[in-house]
Amino acid sequence: VNRPRLLIIANRLPVTLSRSADSGTWTAKASSGGLVSGVSGINSQSAKSDQGSVKYDMVWIGWPGLAVEDDADKRAIDTLLSTPAASSSSSSSSSGINTMAAVYLDEDTSAKYYAGYSNSVLWPLLHYDASSALQLSSTHPEWWTAYVKANEAFAEAVMREYRDGDIVWVHDYHLLLLPSMLREKFRQDARMKREMMIGFFLHTAWPSSEIFRMLPHRRELLNGVVAADLVSFHTYDYARHFVSAAQRIIGVPLVHQDSQEVHSRDQSLVPCGSGMVLLEPHRTSPTTIGIHPIGIDTWKWVSEVKTEPVQQRIAQLASFLGLRSSGGGRNRMMILGVDRLDPIKGIPHRLAAFESLLTKHKHMRDSVILVQIAVPSRSDVEEYQILERKVAETVGRINGHFGSLGSALPQLANQPATTTASGYPGPVLYLHQSVDPVTLQALYALADVCLITSLRDGQNLVALEYIACQPQPAATPTTKPLTKSACLAAPDCQPETAPLKQPVPGVLVISEFAGSALSLAGAIRINPWDMQSVVGALECALSMSDSDRWARQSTLFEYISRHTAARWGQAFVADLFRAYERSRLAS
Ligand code: UDP
Ligand code: G6P
Repeated sequence: VNRPRLLIIANRLPVTLSRSADSGTWTAKASSGGLVSGVSGINSQSAKSDQGSVKYDMVWIGWPGLAVEDDADKRAIDTLLSTPAASSSSSSSSSGINTMAAVYLDEDTSAKYYAGYSNSVLWPLLHYDASSALQLSSTHPEWWTAYVKANEAFAEAVMREYRDGDIVWVHDYHLLLLPSMLREKFRQDARMKREMMIGFFLHTAWPSSEIFRMLPHRRELLNGVVAADLVSFHTYDYARHFVSAAQRIIGVPLVHQDSQEVHSRDQSLVPCGSGMVLLEPHRTSPTTIGIHPIGIDTWKWVSEVKTEPVQQRIAQLASFLGLRSSGGGRNRMMILGVDRLDPIKGIPHRLAAFESLLTKHKHMRDSVILVQIAVPSRSDVEEYQILERKVAETVGRINGHFGSLGSALPQLANQPATTTASGYPGPVLYLHQSVDPVTLQALYALADVCLITSLRDGQNLVALEYIACQPQPAATPTTKPLTKSACLAAPDCQPETAPLKQPVPGVLVISEFAGSALSLAGAIRINPWDMQSVVGALECALSMSDSDRWARQSTLFEYISRHTAARWGQAFVADLFRAYERSRLAS
């Protein structure tokens, strides 16, 4: 049976390639980041609820992550990427990606398009950090030229791969011009019978139109993206800001609004795909606006965390970090942060709050540890280099100031008899590196608190992965979900009355500026700019009663078990078909 072909077009391939200096052979390693994690889950086979849904032949077209000039190297890469085995190196074994195709960019273009326009101008501006973005865009006009050139290269690669009837799904801010370029190329191509079906999904935030309208190439970018049949976002707010920008900047009228659903601002009440708004860019072919909050391959995470390797790693890490006492109770509690080292993630804000917590509660220097994984990212961009230095310096200061030999040598600190002699001695364990999936799952499973302090964040999948790796509600009798009002903020926390026994779920503390916070009733939501509120949320989370933890986890788990990556992909494509029909009827 022929399955529909889904062309995924994204800057980043699900694998990053490297060439061995000795043998000259090319190898593929899983790429990091939410786009890759989410899209890789579309064809998931791992959940009952995901079975019976349409499966696609997925072809992923993207940049290999480095400049490749030599033709022999290009042939070797093309061969590697066209074999399904390469895609199994991507983040999940059930990724369902059938083949990949590389878009080659020369070194100069890739530097100016990727590190330059995409990540020094668009990325910060889309996350409300406009001033340096705007300054750089005016001092580096060549970045825009490279951005156009790179989008052209992607358009040519798609046209080479495209077959009549394929579904074309363009992803993210690197490729905002691609929908209109594809339309143009398609019209010049006499081979095709049916108009190309083009969907666009933005994985980042979309800011207020007051921010976006400062960007010199605002019109080109908006005209580029509205050429898609469906343009979709994680949240209602991003979609609303986009519609305002399109109306005000390029004058596209709003021709229809589904008021009942669009006006529901609570993401947990808005099912995937609802809240459609129609724009009519050229008065011939409308663009549908969608809201599709991405999910994770929930059941893959749930089952993998129970496997032997992960359980062994949990035991090793618990012992190394000194988390559990010999009696099975808690020795030390762990707060976890997992991010790319990116300015939007608010890592300095997180460290400042942790430092303030330790200053306020001296005993916590031995009884609480912050494990911070910061995956290296975009290290050619100056802002990221500055951040790297700042984080390393802050971690050094906190460990220098609050580190002690207390947990390493408990007899010196007069610790209780149940305390084990092992334990990482500093209050912050900072890893500026990516970690393997087994270690990541073990850390998620062990963390008493997952702390997300993003200043702005399109969605944030780390939050969802953490919930999936924590104990599931079925394991406990007390699973009554919280009411909405009871889980919005820290004040209604009930302090713990008895020592905790594993397994009880940890607590998710998440910035209200991360897209997924809107869907995650059951988390403690914080404003990362308000350090005292973050400290208060940590105090609440670290002392929360078992029953409150279970109630919160029950609400959270219920959400992630229904809103999977597969469901996200299916809903997007179903809405894309509807949007395409609407566009065809109108033209
Ligand atoms: N991740 C990873 N390697 C690591 C740590 C994290 O691949 O060492 C993954 C993590 O599992 C998650 C993604 O990186 O799926 C981060 O996605 P998120 O949406 O939280 O943020 P983004 O990086 O897309 O801004
Ligand atoms: C975010 C972006 C993705 C990007 C990822 C990793 O999730 O939305 O488009 O792939 O970060 O960043 P990188 O620059 O390494 O691709």
